[in-house]
Amino acid sequence: MDLTIALLQFKPTRKSIEKNIQKIQRAMEGIKADLIVLPELSNSGYLYEKAEDLKPFSEENDGQGPFLSALIDISKTIESVIVTGYAEKDRSILYNSAIALSPQGPITNYRKTHLYDHEKMLFHPGDSGFKVFEWNTVKIGMMICFDWIFPEACRSLALEGAQIIAHPANLVLPYCQNAMVTRSIENRVFTITANRIGTEKLGDMNLNFTGMSQITDPSGAIRYRGPKDKATVHIITIDPNDALDKNLNPQNNLFKDRRLDLYQLVESREQ
Ligand code: ACM
Repeated sequence: MDLTIALLQFKPTRKSIEKNIQKIQRAMEGIKADLIVLPELSNSGYLYEKAEDLKPFSEENDGQGPFLSALIDISKTIESVIVTGYAEKDRSILYNSAIALSPQGPITNYRKTHLYDHEKMLFHPGDSGFKVFEWNTVKIGMMICFDWIFPEACRSLALEGAQIIAHPANLVLPYCQNAMVTRSIENRVFTITANRIGTEKLGDMNLNFTGMSQITDPSGAIRYRGPKDKATVHIITIDPNDALDKNLNPQNNLFKDRRLDLYQLVESREQ
């Protein structure tokens, strides 16, 4: 089966939901895709000193707020599902979240499990667990940026049946794009890392986001790697069913060959 997937790489503007909506609307004009992945924190930008400063640029996960409702409108026009990272507000608590939106509204919401560095000052650690949803018979999982360094994140999604991992990101370390090749190989899944570009400064924090958004297939082939510092939309067609076969060769099945009896010993050694 053919599925058209797209990623958007851009520079979210800090403290301006309107500008971010406009940038996304312009980038999406005229495109055709079944699944579109946007970067982490696409509504708010990244660096805030404290949660109170970020709150006005966050919204609830019901799809009624200005950012998510604008994206649902885009999803209606394109007839696609959109996965975006956004700052989520749940009463007074903030989460660094990703949400899947269809023309009918939100499908499912994921709260980032592994917070990176200063994010721990802004957000509560995610409590949603790893989420896989089905869209036109294809299973899609979500993880966010720094989740990449914990192989358990991608593995949990793949074991839940995800054929495609939608991975909104605001990457600052130089390792992730290469590591996602391994995530694809070891789980035999497609991964779509939609990263942002640009720099942000706050006090003595000075971040340079790495771009190079990437699509990797279950064999580990990099099907697309974007530029370091240019906004871009990239669209390719894949067969998501390529991710259903976990056999590396006639003797090795990457899921069935796992030695859970021995891994449990590793787990208990940590206690
Ligand atoms: C990151 O997780 N945004 C580095």
